[in-house]
Amino acid sequence: MLHTFTTQKWNEHFPDSTQEQAINNLEDGQILYFPQLTFSLSPEEQFFLSPDYADPHAKNISYNIKDHKLWGVQHLSDSQHNQLKAMLDRYSRYAHGLIQNLLPRYAQQMMIGRTSFRPVQISNRKTSYRKDDKRLHVDAFPSAPNQGKRILRVFCNINPNGEDRVWRVGEPFEKVANHFLHQIGKPFPCSAALLRMLRITKSYRTLYDHYMLQMHNRMKADEHYQKNCAQQELRLPPGSTWIVQTDHVSHAAMSGQHLLEQTFYLPVKAMKDETKSPLRVLEKILRQKLA
Ligand code: SIN
Ligand code: FE
Repeated sequence: MLHTFTTQKWNEHFPDSTQEQAINNLEDGQILYFPQLTFSLSPEEQFFLSPDYADPHAKNISYNIKDHKLWGVQHLSDSQHNQLKAMLDRYSRYAHGLIQNLLPRYAQQMMIGRTSFRPVQISNRKTSYRKDDKRLHVDAFPSAPNQGKRILRVFCNINPNGEDRVWRVGEPFEKVANHFLHQIGKPFPCSAALLRMLRITKSYRTLYDHYMLQMHNRMKADEHYQKNCAQQELRLPPGSTWIVQTDHVSHAAMSGQHLLEQTFYLPVKAMKDETKSPLRVLEKILRQKLA
């Protein structure tokens, strides 16, 4: 499940054979794991390692490197706001550099998404079941359809107190899909156009997005499945980094505090083997085009 690297620098260069192996492992649904790749904070930045600056109404603190906007924060002075932005900007650039060096084939075509900072302890967080990431799920977003693109995420545990990020990882995507897909009906006619018109979705919710979102919701709602499906616990210690395609790998975050995460979106045509993408797997099972 984990493919481990000894990398200690964010701008390390990787030989062709390592790049090849990494892309194969990632597309097979493995997690690329860097136990010694640490993101260091300055003494001033350590100040942000507190839930006090996270807006309780937002799921995470988010940053957009394209327009340098930061949101989901509270109680920060202007200069602290800028300092936190600079920290997330640096993480975003480091994560981007890592992907460019390790997965150059992806780097050419991928789009950069949000950077997030998660300073709130997850084990005692109360939310609705759909938002509860302590339940196994594949990532799919209700308001931001990705229309078949892959979701690639770079996570880094920056907990200062030695606390692991504890995940559960579930069964392979094809199994998840075969388990849940037959329970899911087609969307109501015109619902995608309506959702778009009402600005509930930021772009058109394709059939792919419909099935992925329904799978996400049904996995989370199914208590029996959550307890009994094949799964494994993963403990990701502070000072470690990991890369996962979270639309493909069934995952749940059980406990931990202080995580950085950078999202990238990747067109399936950038993959080495696009038949392994959730889009193509679902299309094969349902025997129709979905995006
Ligand atoms: C998730 O992507 O479901 C949560 C990951 C985390 O916060 O550790
Ligand atoms: Fe997730």
